[in-house]
Amino acid sequence: MTKYDAKANGVGCYHDWIDHKRSALLHERCTAAKRVVVIGNCELYEGDCLEVMKCLEPVDAVVTDPPYGVNFSCGWENKFRAVKINNDNDTLVRDLVIEWLGDRPSLMFGSWKTEKPKSTKMVLIWDKGTVGMGDLSLPWFPGTEEIYVIGNGWNGTRTRSVLSHYVRNEFHPTEKPVSLICELLTKCQKSWTILDPFMGSGTTGVACVKLGRRFIGIELDPDYFDIACERIRKAYDQPDMFVEQPEPAPIQEGFDYD
Ligand SMILES: C[S@@+](CC[C@H](N)C(=O)[O-])C[C@H]1O[C@@H](n2cnc3c(N)ncnc32)[C@H](O)[C@@H]1O
Repeated sequence: MTKYDAKANGVGCYHDWIDHKRSALLHERCTAAKRVVVIGNCELYEGDCLEVMKCLEPVDAVVTDPPYGVNFSCGWENKFRAVKINNDNDTLVRDLVIEWLGDRPSLMFGSWKTEKPKSTKMVLIWDKGTVGMGDLSLPWFPGTEEIYVIGNGWNGTRTRSVLSHYVRNEFHPTEKPVSLICELLTKCQKSWTILDPFMGSGTTGVACVKLGRRFIGIELDPDYFDIACERIRKAYDQPDMFVEQPEPAPIQEGFDYD
């Protein structure tokens, strides 16, 4: 039996209370969300991303994996650009760095290829090490997918264009490997806040916890939302994991006119 640690228990309760208060405040600001859950540096919203994004503060990058069958002719990229906040001209995504897993075998559109976004700066290839999404009942799904990097803030040059990370689907039918998302996140600055508007089972959130990035996730499906909350909570609780704290966001100093 482990010994009761009153101090650790007290600190844990205090952190839970802070997270609970922050969740309540964020929910007041964003009534479009059905639920808001704060876990450490992660804000998780259950709801339709196009509605929830309207009440968010600006973020630095979107790292996302939109539903299969969605292609760029649907205009998601423009929808991200179009979301305005606080009635001013600021857009939701400050630097519009979007790492977008794409090039889906789109059965809906009758083609393996989806349209590449016009502003793509770089295309990386994800080698899944197998065919399909790890579910061999769908063997016609390709063994590679393209990752589109959009925007200017990508930190560093391309060192590898093929990223090999084994596909798995333990929590979600189209789950991406945490290691793949971690590799993408290492290119984003440590002070950045990362948004995944199609969070699914929370893989991007788990990767953000591992690498000490602030995370905002949105998911429509309540069951996947629950799974995301649980995975992110466990990622914080894992005792063998080194969790880096995010760097404070840089603050613009006032100009001295003397
Ligand atoms: C391709 S899956 C993402 C899987 C995720 N990368 C993972 O590793 O678990 C896309 C997710 O987007 C969600 N989704 C679809 N439309 C949405 C919307 N309008 N707002 C928020 N989430 C949505 C789906 O429920 C699905 O879980």
